Amino acid sequence: KGDVFTYDPGFTSTASCDSTITFIDGDKGELLYRGYPIDQLAEKSHYLEVCYLLLYGELPTEAEQIDFESRVTNHTMVHEQMIKFFSGFRRDAHPMAIITGVVGAMSAFYHDSTDVNDPWQREVAAIRMIAKLPTICAMAFKYSVGQPFVYPKNDLDYASNFLRMCFAVPCEEYEVNPILSKAMDRIFTLHADHEQNASTSTVRLAGSSGANPFACIAAGIACLWGPAHGGANQACLEMLREIGTVDRIPEYVARAKDKNDPFRLMGFGHRVYKNFDPRAKVMKESADEVLGLLGIEDNETLKVAKELERIALEDPYFVEKKLYPNVDFYSGIILEAMGFPTSMFTPIFALSRTVGWISQWKEMLGDPNQKIGRPRQLYLGATTRDYVDVSKR
Ligand code: SDX
Repeated sequence: KGDVFTYDPGFTSTASCDSTITFIDGDKGELLYRGYPIDQLAEKSHYLEVCYLLLYGELPTEAEQIDFESRVTNHTMVHEQMIKFFSGFRRDAHPMAIITGVVGAMSAFYHDSTDVNDPWQREVAAIRMIAKLPTICAMAFKYSVGQPFVYPKNDLDYASNFLRMCFAVPCEEYEVNPILSKAMDRIFTLHADHEQNASTSTVRLAGSSGANPFACIAAGIACLWGPAHGGANQACLEMLREIGTVDRIPEYVARAKDKNDPFRLMGFGHRVYKNFDPRAKVMKESADEVLGLLGIEDNETLKVAKELERIALEDPYFVEKKLYPNVDFYSGIILEAMGFPTSMFTPIFALSRTVGWISQWKEMLGDPNQKIGRPRQLYLGATTRDYVDVSKR
């Protein structure tokens, strides 16, 4: 339209950053946490060990792991007054709306971690966040189904504790199924960090102003909720359910290719991976294993998912656009088999990603040269002009 300003403000955007935490090679389909390939960690490690790795940069010794796990375990309860926040929500409130509010409210509770310039207080905030997100997510789930909150149990591992807080009821004993606990832990690991995605960048930008870490994580949760990002796991399972049977797949594939139709295949495509998403590969194997062990391998949704993947990977449109299943394509099938409603899929993503967000936040604030974020823009608006009185417009 008008002239584009060539004015250069003389600063480089502080929206990009250096990091040593996660590396992605989108062409090779490679994802490394502190140099370790995601498929090895998913197979050989467990989530709290991955949390230690992301936070501190190295795999822990046995003593370091025992100390770290006990610090996390001893912070899993939330302040009793926080329970009051839940009753302010309608029962049908989306759990993402609830956890965004409750995590943000944590900044009003933990005054002793507001000095973000104190490395020890940054450390305490990180541990608290990792420890409390499962409790808050489980409370949001219990609130939505009208069941009493279940307190964490310190003798359970992280994933088992979360499953018990979600599915135990006071009137009967709850035995954690080790198959589900292992699958849950693996889902946590696969979602733990992913370099500078939209929600991590949101946390970094909020944190760059010195805001309270709990408020920064709440901002990350809000961003993750979008269907183009973490909300895709819920949208994907709902799409697979809507497709319903294998014979209806071509209709949806045609819609995904139709430029006049806003429909997209949820769980497909990625800004960075232009080959396969290594997490989707592990998730698909896990879906087969979990549903097989649970005796529901003839799950119609899984059949539709596999056939949709096969058709899309052979279709010239998707091949040309380099569209492959991403982390969200199979995760919902496992979570549904565990008994979670689709509304809990993104909160589980947020719970898993909290360690990535807080590790990146900690890394940024540990840099003495860190400055407030200020993304650049290309100004395409009006050039300078004089005010016109309303009588002359
Ligand atoms: C996550 O960044 C991260 O790391 C995110 C994440 C993480 O761990 O943090 O990996 C988690 O968010 C995974 C992505 C989950 N979202 C979805 O599954 C939603 C469906 N996918 C799309 O909306 C899309 O693929 C994105 C948002 C994921 C990526 O979009 P891009 O990179 O901006 O690509 P684009 O939208 O420009 O698409 C390129 C082309 C377009 O066609 P043209 O305009 O060039 O003709 O591919 C088409 C798109 O129309 N396309 C799709 C498609 N995704 C892209 N067509 C049909 N179905 C799709 N899913």
